[in-house]
Amino acid sequence: MNKYFIKSEQLSRGLFISFEGGDGTGKSTQAELFYEWAKRNFDKSTILTFEPGGSSFGQEIRQIVMHRKSKSSKDAITAKTQALLFAIDRSYHVDNVIWPALKAGKTVITDRYFDSSVAYQGQTVGLSDESIYNLNMFATNGLLPDITFLIDKNSVNALALAKQNTGTKYDRFETQDITFHNKIRQKYLDLAKDNSDKFNQINYNDKISSSEFNNKKLVDELNRWHIIDGKADIKRVHQSVIEEFLQFYDSLKAKLLVSDSGKANLSVD
Ligand code: TYD
Repeated sequence: MNKYFIKSEQLSRGLFISFEGGDGTGKSTQAELFYEWAKRNFDKSTILTFEPGGSSFGQEIRQIVMHRKSKSSKDAITAKTQALLFAIDRSYHVDNVIWPALKAGKTVITDRYFDSSVAYQGQTVGLSDESIYNLNMFATNGLLPDITFLIDKNSVNALALAKQNTGTKYDRFETQDITFHNKIRQKYLDLAKDNSDKFNQINYNDKISSSEFNNKKLVDELNRWHIIDGKADIKRVHQSVIEEFLQFYDSLKAKLLVSDSGKANLSVD
């Protein structure tokens, strides 16, 4: 057995890991490489998923939110509708893919999640960070990742790459201008530096409380965000992700070993 494969004895639900970043930063490649590594070295039951569209229903929503062309300006999907569509996708994704896997003790890696909406939809005039946050807390019942890797890269290079990958299909986000992408990069960096999940104090009258999902105490104590410099070559970036993950995991283990309440916080029931 590999020395890192100790997950299931320590945690009563799987670890939840997200990859975030702007378009063309190489985030999806890194999520995939980390998934392969995690299956070999950490938890062989690890699953890799993504947003938007990581479920059957989500695929239908992805088509609308990413590729629907409006017939006229009156027919356009508004920023609010867009934010709601991403939240619907996320809600279904959590209920049908992410949470069942975490509950079964599997490690879940997702290529984009909650923070993509804060970074992207939060750029839209009229939608405050707090409204996006609240909408998504409702959609996910408050499920936040235990660890988030932000693949950070300058938008000019990132966009050039994104353009190469677009192919022929219209993509609502990649066709945005450089200022938009720079703002997203900055927003992600602000979120990562702040690291407070500051709106996560709200009480929901939902039947599943956020404390049931979240290892909140530990998440509060350990830095959820890990900024990875995406400029280096793919292998180097991958190595940085692994190093950050192992550091995080060592701290998590240390906390679990010293604190019973930590373990209680991780429990499903
Ligand atoms: P994705 O398929 O991950 O594309 P890329 O590989 O270029 O990152 O994401 C699709 C686009 O949708 C991307 O431009 C970001 C955007 N998006 C949002 O605006 N809000 C969201 O909540 C999510 C999940 C994605």
